[in-house]
Amino acid sequence: MNALQLSDSDFRALAARLTGLAAGYLATLTRRRTFPEVSGQASVNAFSEALPEKGLGPAALDALAAVLEFSRPPSPRFFGYVLGSGEPVAALADLLASVLNQNVTAWRSAPAAVTLERQVVEALAAALDCRGYHGSFCGGGSMANLMALAMAREARLPANASGARPGVVYASSEVHMSIPKAMALLGLGRENLRLIPADACLRMSPAHLREAIAADHAAGRVPLAVVATSGTVNTGSIDPLAEIATLCREHGLWMHVDGAYGALAALAVPERFAGLNAADSLSLDPHKWLYQPLDCGMLLFKDAQAARVAFSYTGDYAKSLAEDPLEAFAFFDESLELSRRFRALKLWLSLRYHGLDAFRRAIRADLHHAQLLAQQVAASARLELSAPVALSAVCFRYLSGEGHAPDGDRLNAAILRRVIERGRVYLSNASLGGRFVLRACFVNHRTTEEDVAQIVPEVLAAADEVLAAR
Ligand SMILES: Cc1ncc(COP(=O)(O)O)c(C=O)c1O
Repeated sequence: MNALQLSDSDFRALAARLTGLAAGYLATLTRRRTFPEVSGQASVNAFSEALPEKGLGPAALDALAAVLEFSRPPSPRFFGYVLGSGEPVAALADLLASVLNQNVTAWRSAPAAVTLERQVVEALAAALDCRGYHGSFCGGGSMANLMALAMAREARLPANASGARPGVVYASSEVHMSIPKAMALLGLGRENLRLIPADACLRMSPAHLREAIAADHAAGRVPLAVVATSGTVNTGSIDPLAEIATLCREHGLWMHVDGAYGALAALAVPERFAGLNAADSLSLDPHKWLYQPLDCGMLLFKDAQAARVAFSYTGDYAKSLAEDPLEAFAFFDESLELSRRFRALKLWLSLRYHGLDAFRRAIRADLHHAQLLAQQVAASARLELSAPVALSAVCFRYLSGEGHAPDGDRLNAAILRRVIERGRVYLSNASLGGRFVLRACFVNHRTTEEDVAQIVPEVLAAADEVLAAR
């Protein structure tokens, strides 16, 4: 046997040990700290052992204990960023996907995986009332947004052959950082991203958008696309999609919806997402609000031909040999990626196992948990809500009583650090109107009302400790 080969019995023994480790870990999630007790240096020390020249065999797995110990667990009381909770059926599917090791480039290379991916993408689109959309999985919302703007650029100001020309893209002041990054990478330039002011609910103002488009036209610039956000990263606000779609139609602009955080909630509360299916392209992140293990992003688009115009550039060695349209299909004609993992397997298996209704109910529970926290914050004399709660992100501040804003910001940042050190709940932060705010985001299928009820007492206890130490 080749030195890298495993016998059937060795594989079974390793797999049993690994799944045992995973099951044991899952069983302890509720009682684990929400952030490990570890410093940067301690984490470096834990993994500083040199890679062995001679294999350790099964003893190699012993070091996994430190990996588990120093990981930030997918706890029921993790409310940071916008990070899904890692549904375990999907995690098991990921193991099988790696064993199968399909390269999901084209049907020619991976018939089952390509067919499944196309079917899962189209079924999910239909469930979001975007019937007829096509698309593909990708690493995440940032990649989906980049691909969407590449499609927009190629549809309105073709650049693939001779290079980028100046064009203007519009988004609200609350836009995710991946959009300016995409502007830079596509040669459009971050300065050609117009940040349209948001209203009191942090939604893009269509009146300001109209004015900005007119001003650019008048100045001889070329408006290209609008990025509407359905679920902004800070507060979950949803831009007025239908009104933005009307403006896009009037001016011939590409409409992209960045739904990486929020749009999957349309499975549960479709009425909040009217106009979603007017988008030319739509970014989704099942690794956020469908609780899938990373990575699992997705880009949907209305017109597959627009994707091919943007991405199809095929080396002879990869060209299809088939006449049959299903067998000739290649994702690399419609995506930036060539080698691709079998991401569809986990979402497909997880949806089949639990059923769509279970996901709708989990999303509704997240929405409910956000409202509960908002009430608990409002009921505390020492805290204030910092923004309306449109979906499942709750932004709030400890009232410092210090008139000077930077002092309040420093205090809230210190409270956040202390909350994380205490390890009972995990929150993150946002910047709203230049102020530092605490933020809890619910995209966690493990969270209960009892978990939510720990947030306010934890923040107040952390504040007491910070104030006492001053
Ligand atoms: C609105 C929005 N867009 C894009 C992204 C980027 O997604 P990813 O982290 O999957 O690249 C995020 C991440 O939080 C987001 O909230």
